[in-house]
Amino acid sequence: MAQINDHYLKLEAGYLFPEIGRRVRAFQEAHPDAAVIRLGIGDVTLPLVPAIVSALHEAVDDMATADGFKGYGPDRGYPFLVDAILEHDFRARGVELAADEVFVSDGSKQDSGNIQEIFALASRVLVTDPVYPVYVDTNVMAGRTGRADGAGRYEGIHYLAATEANGFVPDPPEGGGVDLVYLCSPNNPTGSVMTREQLGRWVAWAREHDAVILFDAAYDAFISDPELPRSIYEISGAEECAIEMRSFSKRAGFTGMRCAYTIVPKAATGTSASGERVSLHQLWSRRQATKFNEVPYIVQRAAAAIYSPEGRKQTAEQIAHYMENARILREGLSAAGFTVFAGLHAPYIWLRTPEGLSSWQFFDALLEKTHVVGTPGSGFGPSGEGYFRISAFNSRENAEEAVSRIQGAFGAES
Ligand code: MLT
Repeated sequence: MAQINDHYLKLEAGYLFPEIGRRVRAFQEAHPDAAVIRLGIGDVTLPLVPAIVSALHEAVDDMATADGFKGYGPDRGYPFLVDAILEHDFRARGVELAADEVFVSDGSKQDSGNIQEIFALASRVLVTDPVYPVYVDTNVMAGRTGRADGAGRYEGIHYLAATEANGFVPDPPEGGGVDLVYLCSPNNPTGSVMTREQLGRWVAWAREHDAVILFDAAYDAFISDPELPRSIYEISGAEECAIEMRSFSKRAGFTGMRCAYTIVPKAATGTSASGERVSLHQLWSRRQATKFNEVPYIVQRAAAAIYSPEGRKQTAEQIAHYMENARILREGLSAAGFTVFAGLHAPYIWLRTPEGLSSWQFFDALLEKTHVVGTPGSGFGPSGEGYFRISAFNSRENAEEAVSRIQGAFGAES
């Protein structure tokens, strides 16, 4: 008899985005003529930029020659990509990392889901709430929690509410009592971003309490203020207490290409059951060597092209396009009377649902009245109830059309 992993049975409902997809499909079946605008899942819509496409073509040609053909790639990624990452994402901002501290991977979703494997099951986990569901669900699957309560809070996970009062950026808790902390800045879903001082307080807290920060910076490219930190390693001491995840998905249209990277500094350690300090780098290297076979050469060549002068210019134009959509959505929904947050350093608008409507009720009303799809805030955690996320990833035309439909349907009510 194959006994299943019972922890999976503790998971609440389906994963958020498939559940939204299911509801939208049902709506479309009932209303086949409705022109649905999808501002739900944060999936890019613009095609790959020319610099990336040329690199892909060249890489395919390499694979067709005896000299250029590549089989398994080197552990942790090809030097041509790792060197570009070190130069442009870190050295340019005053951060020195070693090449073998970069682990090229097939996605930050995977890395942020898998990283918990290298920590003890008894580790006490803290998340800010609302939060990217992957952090919580993977800890539930691993068996680090009990069941969820009526509000959706899993027993054994510490939730730190991100609220209007704290600008959706909670400070560290009083005292310790936590081993692993997931932070995401710019934040998915609230779109808030941490200042240097706020991030500095978390790093100081983690060092004082011997906790490890799992820092998800998948949206760093959307930060428009150069003073704001893009990497946690811009804060001195973070290399001893933080792992960072970065992605090419939103930054360069790679959601379907799959390429990202995670930094595990050699100075970051945890403690073994017998009390010795152990390098997290050693554990993650071992984990990846066993379970992962590297991102395809072709895709790594495409990722490296993001850092070429043309690639940087062209991908910056894509980001500017999405951020202009964010401005249109933010200002348009605000003009319709909604209380709107974020959208300045992230491709997401976070808004309060109209009086009397829960997140899912607003999801249904929006779909019904305007045929616009968003994401219910409560799908990201109990503190997201009463809020709603709108993604800026779409065409200009659809962003403008969504605003006009929402203004028409909700302008007077909200
Ligand atoms: C989102 O919409 O939150 C993201 O697209 C999900 C993801 O990146 O996995």
